[in-house]
Amino acid sequence: MSKKLWGGRFKKGLAESAIKLSFSVDIDKRLVQYDIKVNRAHAKALLAAGIFSKPEFTKVDKCLDVLSKKFEKSDDLIADDEDIHSCIERLVTEVCGDLGKKLHTGKSRNDQVITDTRLFVKDECVRVKKNINALQKALVQLAEKHHGLIFPGFTHFQPALPILFSHHILAYFEKFKRDFRRFETTFETSDVCALGAGAMAGNNYGLDREGVAKKLGFSSLTLNSMDAVSDRDFILEFLSAASFCMTHLSRFCEEIIVWNSPILGFISLGDDFTTGSSIMPQKKNPDMAELIRGKSGRVMGHLVSLQTILKGLPLTYNRDLQEDKELLFDTTDTLNDSLECFTDMIKTLKVNKVAVAVALRQGHLLATDFADYLVGKGVPFRDSHEITGKAVMFAIEKGCQIDELTLQDLQQFSKKVEQDVHEALCLESSVKAKNIIGGTNQSQVAKQIKQAKAWTLRATKGK
Ligand code: ARG
Repeated sequence: MSKKLWGGRFKKGLAESAIKLSFSVDIDKRLVQYDIKVNRAHAKALLAAGIFSKPEFTKVDKCLDVLSKKFEKSDDLIADDEDIHSCIERLVTEVCGDLGKKLHTGKSRNDQVITDTRLFVKDECVRVKKNINALQKALVQLAEKHHGLIFPGFTHFQPALPILFSHHILAYFEKFKRDFRRFETTFETSDVCALGAGAMAGNNYGLDREGVAKKLGFSSLTLNSMDAVSDRDFILEFLSAASFCMTHLSRFCEEIIVWNSPILGFISLGDDFTTGSSIMPQKKNPDMAELIRGKSGRVMGHLVSLQTILKGLPLTYNRDLQEDKELLFDTTDTLNDSLECFTDMIKTLKVNKVAVAVALRQGHLLATDFADYLVGKGVPFRDSHEITGKAVMFAIEKGCQIDELTLQDLQQFSKKVEQDVHEALCLESSVKAKNIIGGTNQSQVAKQIKQAKAWTLRATKGK
């Protein structure tokens, strides 16, 4: 068994069940490269503070470099270590003897683990942003391809108003834009170096915190050692941003599932993103969309888990905090896998224009346009709403859509109805009339497509 970092005041080792419960190396080994990096920066600070001589530093630094390369290839060096920090210290000590033991001077696993994790979260924010950006590009392409196609818009899942399909798709673009920004903010929150906070009170060695932060690529330093080792807000922020993003993916998946059902049949997905049934030969199921919708529940659960873990903790470090990493790692993997699969899936989406056209002839989508037409003829909106309701009822009784009523039919409901009524009661003019910033009018949406495209390009360049 590898020597513990803290055996001095104990007569007995940990019980097997306690080891099973508490050892975390299987999970936190994912931080190995960050841990080595942080150790190297710390070693440099120990050199500057005169705790390491130049040759001592060189020896330790080289050893850490070799370990980094070995870990790139495999995890074989991990033994029965408590966590990745103990593992690295053991390995350095095995090669460098007492110098390995000296490496822990002025550093605690408490400031080490959180510094490692901050570096990890920064990298993950970059990874997520790339994936969101790729999805946004796919959305712009889809919107552009079908720009002009009129689609039924829903509220309460009841036919509401005609809209452009491209407008519907760009609604998600906006949601993902906010997600992208949340990950930018999370990057900034994480971009603070905690090393130097020690166990919780700082350290005695006057180590150059600024130098360490610079070497690790952090923009600033934590300003309170007690906050530094107890703070997990940046992880919470990451989980929260991820929950938002998964919520958006899940909502989109729900629509794709519904659209893809033969009952509506608005779209079909590629064979490579659907599955068959082992018993019902006709089935082509949207399993990937369902899985992403399901996985969103898992990510939201992780957010609630961490917040619950944190809410009762006194300052400063408590071992409960170790639970953060499993939640973090699973969240980032689930989110990134979901984003990647969703982006690939959406690229296979085909729109069935015939089914869309059939749907547009149901649910009196042009009723509001009749009310707006009457407003244009001087009828107050409340009255025109009432008149239109009656006309809809009449159309239902006749078994047709409101726009299929004749001029004479419509004139029964208001004397203001004139020859031009059917020009207003048409899908194209309904959409065209929404000529306002953010509206579904054809040229407004064309502008939105252009802006969205420019946004994705700026985001790719990181501006
Ligand atoms: N494995 C621990 C964690 O992830 C590292 C810090 C341990 N600190 C301690 N005082 N036991 O939180």
